[in-house]
Amino acid sequence: MSGFASPPHPMPTPFFDAVIIGAGAAGLFCAARAGQRGLKVLLIDHADKVAEKIRISGGGRCNFTNRELDPRAPQRHFVGQNPQFCRSALSRYTPQDFIALVQRHGIAFHEKHKGQLFADRSAEDIIAMLLAECADGRVERWQPCGVKSIAYEATERYAATPAASPHPCPLPEGEGVKPAQAIALAPLGRGRGEGQQRPEHIQVFSGSNAYTESAGSYQINTDRGPVQARSLVIATGGLSIPKIGASDFGYRLARQFKLPLVAQRPGLVPLTFDGADWAPYAQLAGLALPVEISTGAKKERMAFHEDLLFTHRGLSGPAVLQISSYWQEGAPLAINLAPGVDLSEALVQAKARSRKRIANELATLVPARLADAWASTDADWQRPINEASDKALARLAERLARWQLTPMGTEGYKKAEVTLGGVDTRALSQQTMECKSQPGLYFIGEVVDITGWLGGYNFQWAWSSAAACAQALPGE
Ligand code: FDA
Repeated sequence: MSGFASPPHPMPTPFFDAVIIGAGAAGLFCAARAGQRGLKVLLIDHADKVAEKIRISGGGRCNFTNRELDPRAPQRHFVGQNPQFCRSALSRYTPQDFIALVQRHGIAFHEKHKGQLFADRSAEDIIAMLLAECADGRVERWQPCGVKSIAYEATERYAATPAASPHPCPLPEGEGVKPAQAIALAPLGRGRGEGQQRPEHIQVFSGSNAYTESAGSYQINTDRGPVQARSLVIATGGLSIPKIGASDFGYRLARQFKLPLVAQRPGLVPLTFDGADWAPYAQLAGLALPVEISTGAKKERMAFHEDLLFTHRGLSGPAVLQISSYWQEGAPLAINLAPGVDLSEALVQAKARSRKRIANELATLVPARLADAWASTDADWQRPINEASDKALARLAERLARWQLTPMGTEGYKKAEVTLGGVDTRALSQQTMECKSQPGLYFIGEVVDITGWLGGYNFQWAWSSAAACAQALPGE
């Protein structure tokens, strides 16, 4: 035996065709489809449990798509600076495609209203289906596993005209890769605001060369060690429900690659009102009723016919969640609390035949709790209806049919179902979800500035954008 120990061989950095960060709806689906194409895929997520948002979605039954989605008219059900962006992905992977997958896995489902499809048993069935699809594609998943830093290394062969780097960050030469210049990113911590951008360390290719000449690789430094990938897919979702793993990772990464972002704000979220203004209505907490709700004027006007729910702090329910994605701070809402009823005519007729109190007559037209609360706000409405003036009844009808109120704000990300805004679609290819200015970097799902209506549209965007990306990811 020789007395000399041989020098330790450095472990080669594992190489993947694609590393996908975020094992939620979009990340799992993209990983599965890319893996099934034969690509070597690593899926990384920092949360303890996989796909928590799917688990809590749709009241635990996951409203996984919507039959009424029209891929040719995405602006009908999607919000963002350019809803037309999702047309290509939605047309190539449709609700029908996802329904067929669910059926192939023998998952029973049902339609609620307005085309919304839910699993009969549990959202767990959808998660199990996605995990089985990933297993079929031999996807490797590291979870929980945080990502500490990411660097991009371009190969000499493709190095298109990088801007002069004030602080080039050379990376060791890898097999078959000759680093010409690198993009080093600041450490990416878990929490918001951590790992702030250090712009002088970042270098991004400019112009179309980098986009057309896809090359280079990503060095991803994770809690479980470094990995290298030809493509990097960001599927880290939005900011809502931080306690189950939501983070601003995707936005920070986009910023570091100098991609444009559309300002983020909570969407599909309950609205709140000033405490004193809301006091007369707080007693109605728990009351639900169908309404017509609208905001904006003329071409900007948006209206929904859905159920509204009174809460202690304000308004919720599908009507309010839907309108919240269109509501602009400081703008009023208009609510018709008795849609489809000519209140003014009904009250005049009641006056001619009844001596009951106004609240009692009103209770035949709207829920009794609402009638009582409404009538109690004006002395003219607290008397028998036959003694009320026509003017007072007209005012009451008007107040109920055109209730104008201005929210103070929203319940924020802890209650929001989605995040509006995100990576500006102008930075991405609508066919592949790849960044136009950064080869091999993709953004899918909610992190992109595309937000669906309530009713399964957000999951369909996750599936469709994931499918478009998975199809485009290059292999060997
Ligand atoms: P998603 O949020 O699903 O996944 C992102 C993943 O990235 C998470 O697993 C997270 O842990 C991980 N991640 C984040 N930061 C990371 C980091 N720094 N490092 C590593 N991993 C990181 N939609 C719908 O269509 N039908 C419905 O029924 C519902 N219901 C519903 C209920 C509730 C309560 C909420 C909050 C939301 C819904 N939604 C919904 C919306 C839907 O859940 C959402 O739009 C999709 O899950 C978005 O899919 P993504 O894959 O883009 O993000």
